[in-house]
Parts: sequence; C-alpha cells; structure tokens
Amino acid sequence: MKYIVTTSYRPTKEMVELARTLAKEYGVKYVNRRHVSEKLKNKEIDFYYVIDRNLMLSIKWNNEEFFFHQGIAKIRMENIFHGEKDYLIESVQPTNDSIIYDATCGLASEALLLANFARKVVATEGSIHIFRIVQWGLANYKSNVDWINKAMKKIELKFSDYKEFIRKEKDETFDVVYCDPMFENPIYESNSINPLRGFAVYDSLNLKDIEEMLRIAKKRVVIKTYQKDKLYINLKHMFDKEYVSRKSGVVYGVINK
Ligand SMILES: C[S@@+](CC[C@H](N)C(=O)[O-])C[C@H]1O[C@@H](n2cnc3c(N)ncnc32)[C@H](O)[C@@H]1O
Repeated sequence: MKYIVTTSYRPTKEMVELARTLAKEYGVKYVNRRHVSEKLKNKEIDFYYVIDRNLMLSIKWNNEEFFFHQGIAKIRMENIFHGEKDYLIESVQPTNDSIIYDATCGLASEALLLANFARKVVATEGSIHIFRIVQWGLANYKSNVDWINKAMKKIELKFSDYKEFIRKEKDETFDVVYCDPMFENPIYESNSINPLRGFAVYDSLNLKDIEEMLRIAKKRVVIKTYQKDKLYINLKHMFDKEYVSRKSGVVYGVINK
C-alpha cells in the first residue's frame, strides 16, 4: 500500500517537523496537506498518516479514519464498575501480580482492560500500521480517565508476528496468554474493529500455535472466537470453560494448563 505523512491544515512548525521526522522513519515522503487530496484522487497514494494539532497520529483515507482511542475500554470498565461481568476478565482472571501476554493487540482496548487488573501486559501486533498508531497512542494519549492513563503505562507493545514470538519465549513466561484473531465471519456491527479491518493481519490460529501458547503460559490460554467460525468448531473440544455472548455469538474459550 502506498502512503505519505502529512499534518492537519494550517500546521505549526512543530507539527511539520514531527511529520517530516516520521516520514523519514517510515521511508516515505512528507507532503504538504494542501496536496494530499489530489494524490488520493490520482491514486498515487492509498492513505496518509496525519499529525494533528494535539500531536496525535492517525491514518486517513477518503472519509475514513483510524486512530487510537479509549472508547470501548472505557465503556466496558464502566460496566464492570456497575457490577456487570465482563467475559474477558472472567476468563483471563488477571490479578495485580500477573503478567499477561496479549498476542493480538489491535486497538489495545482489551489490553487496556487487562492492564487495569494486571501488573503488566506484553502485547504483539503484526500489522505495522496498526502497531504505529497504537504505539503512538499508548505513549502520547492523555485520557480524562485516571485508570486508562495508568493502564497505558503497563502495556509493552511489540511489532511482531505472534506465531514467531510464541516460539521464541521460554516456558511459563506469562501467567496467561490471550489471543483474539480476526474472525473468519466478520461482525460488522463491531464498530471498534471496523476501522482496522483494512490494515489487519488475517492469520489463522492452529493447534501447534495453541501448544506453544500453553507452553509459555503458567495458568491458562484464552482464545476469543466466534461460534460461526471454523476456529471455534476446531477448538471447542479443547475448552475447559466457555464464556459465550448469547447476543453476538462471541466466545472466550479457556484452556487450563
Ligand atoms: C480482532 S483484532 C484484536 C482486537 C483487540 N483485542 C482489541 O481489543 O482491540 C486482531 C488483531 O490481531 C492482529 N493479528 C492477526 N494475526 C496476527 C499475528 N500473526 N501476529 C500479530 N498480530 C496479529 C491483527 O492485525 C489485528 O490487529
């Protein structure tokens, strides 16, 4: 995919400098914002990175935008505060001394929730574009919610394919391993996932991967899947416990060690 780095309109000197530095780092061109729509129209680029007035980084194309935000994590945590059960927390069971590995970071919404209860979350993301936006967000986003600012600092995000990562880690490095691959049958009502679909890695999880995940976990592996997907049908027999959303068909399957 072809892309450039730019700023929002009427940038400050600082925004331009930052955008130029990122363009150099990514090995692409910096382009003045005034010329970007023309480049999109001529199909010279597929999308562009933007540094905005708050020095936050996002990706834009046509009328769409991909950026780091606290949205879904904040709502889920509010529900937990109001006494509702959250299947991620129920299945992973993070405690204040646990180290969790989130193999598929995405927008880090679930990594944030886990980090709020755990000591540390190590996360991997295999898409360079998703990684850059989320890494930038975790380092620079200022939330008006205290627990989110604290949780962001507990996430160590790596640009890595989890299939390679899990094969290099030592036995029982993490208390729990969590994996939420892209569903084979997308749930388009899932607004939090929609913006990243075009950039995501669509790998299928196999039994050898699960064996490796169990090897590097002390307590359990939790897989998020969808009742309509082949992955669920293939793994169902391995789950010691399932947390199933009757409304959406999303399953958090627990494999204990
Ligand atoms: C469904 S999303 C995860 C959403 C995440 N749980 C959240 O709360 O935002 C799946 C993510 O895993 C990433 N992914 C898929 N296969 C991967 C792989 N082999 N290695 C690393 N990341 C991968 C995708 O690029 C995507 O960002």
